[in-house]
Amino acid sequence: MTILGIESSCDETSAAVVKDGNVLSNVISSQLVHKRYGGVVPELASRAHQRLILEVVGEALGQANSAREDLDGIAATYGPGLIGALLVGLNFGKAMAYGLGIPFVGVNHMEGHLYSNMLRQPAHGFPFLALIVSGGHTMLVHVIERFSHHVLGETRDDASGEAFDKVAKMLKLGYPGGPVIDSMARKGNPEAIRFPRSFLGDESFDFSFSGIKTAVLYHVRDHGLPSTEQGMADLCASFQEAIVDVLVGKTIRAARQCRVEDISVAGGVSANSRLRSRLEVECKKHGFRLFTPPLEYCMDNGAMIAYVGWMKLGQGIRSPLSLPAVAALELL
Ligand code: KG4
Ligand code: ZN
Repeated sequence: MTILGIESSCDETSAAVVKDGNVLSNVISSQLVHKRYGGVVPELASRAHQRLILEVVGEALGQANSAREDLDGIAATYGPGLIGALLVGLNFGKAMAYGLGIPFVGVNHMEGHLYSNMLRQPAHGFPFLALIVSGGHTMLVHVIERFSHHVLGETRDDASGEAFDKVAKMLKLGYPGGPVIDSMARKGNPEAIRFPRSFLGDESFDFSFSGIKTAVLYHVRDHGLPSTEQGMADLCASFQEAIVDVLVGKTIRAARQCRVEDISVAGGVSANSRLRSRLEVECKKHGFRLFTPPLEYCMDNGAMIAYVGWMKLGQGIRSPLSLPAVAALELL
């Protein structure tokens, strides 16, 4: 079965072809228009998706050596995300499926991230624990089997990626903040400044990152922006360490409680080198197998949507063409 997947929930316009669970192509066009505004501007995102979608889908089919007629179904993200952005990919996918007379299925973007480590080989099995960390979400999910999962906890305020982006903005490091802070932090001392870690009690699997963000704000208010490169590196490393401590601590505790063997980390922040190395050490220590996606599957991408679409259509799950885009779609 050959499935085209379309992703347009935020600022990546992406399309991919998955055949029998294998990725044949994954084309991602990251919109650069938002850089100068220090964050994603929703209306500009919608317009950029409109400009890019035809070319991106064409390129995905071309790279996969597939014709439209080879497709057995089309999957598109229908939420969560920016409503105007979602509508572009969703309507494009529906129209194409209707025109070709093939099944259509809507995919929850978070489900895409949840299964994104199954795109690589070797993949993990079931059950597994997933840590999803992106610009919009931070959640821990116990996945028992295909399409059967239990959300253990999520953020009560800022998402982890959002905290990176907001702190980078405070430090005038540009957008998106995660990659810049990650690379600055490599030269810094993570113990230079002690920022608060919010664990929300011993039992909770929820997250809160607004306190760390505010602590950085107060630090900059009281001490000014670091005047040396080393000072900036130390600040970035100390902030990053506070976020990583909380993410790693809760992930290991959740994996032990759920008695899983496999841990999957996904979403844009899973590209963070410190998060990866700390998780590797802790997983080794506690006997868990760690799965982190290659970069093109960490960020928002069509392949993860095509893959979930392939699983769904394979089980006979389809969506009506009346399926609406849902900005605040939950992962239930
Ligand atoms: O999954 P994603 O591409 O889009 C959303 O669904 O949000 O995640 C984007 C987020 C941004 O907040 C970005 O700053 C963060 O992922 N990010 C990183 C790194 N690379 C991207 N955060 C920390 N370290 C990184 N290396
Ligand atoms: Zn995402």
